[in-house]
Amino acid sequence: MTEPPIHARRPPATTVEEVHAVVKGYPYTDLANGRILYEFIRRHELRRVLELGVCHGVSACYAAAAVASLGGGRVVAIDRLEVAAYRPGILDFSRELGFESIIVPFFERATYNWRLRDFLRLEPRPVFDLVFLDGAHTWEPDSLAFLLSEKLLRPGGWWILDDLNWSIGTSPTARRVAPGQITLAADEIEALQVRDVIDLVVRPHPNVASWSENGKWGFARKKTLEEMAAEDRLGAALRERAAATLLHARENFPEPIEVPPDLRPEAWQRTIHHGLERNRNARLARSGRG
Ligand SMILES: C[S@@+](CC[C@H](N)C(=O)[O-])C[C@H]1O[C@@H](n2cnc3c(N)ncnc32)[C@H](O)[C@@H]1O
Repeated sequence: MTEPPIHARRPPATTVEEVHAVVKGYPYTDLANGRILYEFIRRHELRRVLELGVCHGVSACYAAAAVASLGGGRVVAIDRLEVAAYRPGILDFSRELGFESIIVPFFERATYNWRLRDFLRLEPRPVFDLVFLDGAHTWEPDSLAFLLSEKLLRPGGWWILDDLNWSIGTSPTARRVAPGQITLAADEIEALQVRDVIDLVVRPHPNVASWSENGKWGFARKKTLEEMAAEDRLGAALRERAAATLLHARENFPEPIEVPPDLRPEAWQRTIHHGLERNRNARLARSGRG
C-alpha cells in the first residue's frame, strides 16, 4: 500500500477523545490513564517525551495528542523489532491520528538501553522533558534505563514509572522461561522489581527532587538547576562553617596529640590525657600564666 504524501495527511489529534476513538480495545493504557498522562504532559508543558516500552503505541498516542495540543514536539517511542509487526500498531495509529511528525518510533533488536547508549553518543545529545518507563518492569533493564535516561532528562523534567506493584509471578503475560534458559529463582519471581528500582535507585538518586504515586504510576521530578545550585551553595556554606570550627579547635588545642595504633583502652586514655595536659600548658604559656 502506498502511503499518502505528508502534506495530504490530517492535522494531529489534540484531544483524549480523538485518540480513544482510534486506540480503544488495545492494551495497555486505558482511557482513564490516557487522560492522566495527557493532562500531566499539558500541565507541565512536557513537549519532548521519551517512551520506553510502547507495544501497540496506545500511551504514545495519548502523549502525542498532549504534545500536539501544546503546539508540537516529539514522542520518541522505543520498543523491540516485533512490535513493528503488530496490526494495528504504532505506525497505523500514528498515521490515522496525524502523529507522523510527532511520534518517532524505534524498533530495537535487543533493548531500549542499547538505543539510549546511542542517544548518549549523539552530538548534540537529545534532551527530553518526560521519560515514561513502561517496558520490562524488571530490575536489570529498568534500573539501567532510569540511570541512562537521567542523563537525557532536562533539569526539572519528569519520569513516570508504570506498574509499581508488578511482579513476574502475578503477571499473566510475563515471559516464560524457555528450554535451556536459566530458571528464575523464587525471589526473582516474587520480587516487586519496579518497586525495587524505585526504592533502591530512583528515590535515593541525588538528582531526584520529589516522588509521588497514584497506585499505578509513580512520578519523579528531576531537580531544577536552581535546586542543584542551592545544594551546592548549602554544601559550601556548611564547609565554611565546619572550617571555622576547625580553626577554633586548633586555637584551643595547638599541640597535636599523637595516638599510636592498637592501644588498649587504658593506654589510649593515658595518651589522650597527656596530650590534653600538654595543650593546657601550651595555652597557659601563651596567656603568660605558665
Ligand atoms: C506494557 S507494554 C507497553 C505499553 C505501552 N506503554 C502502553 O501503555 O500503551 C511493555 C512493552 O515493553 C517492551 N519491552 C520490554 N522490555 C524491553 C526492552 N528491554 N527493550 C525494549 N522494549 C522492551 C515490550 O516489548 C512491550 O511491548
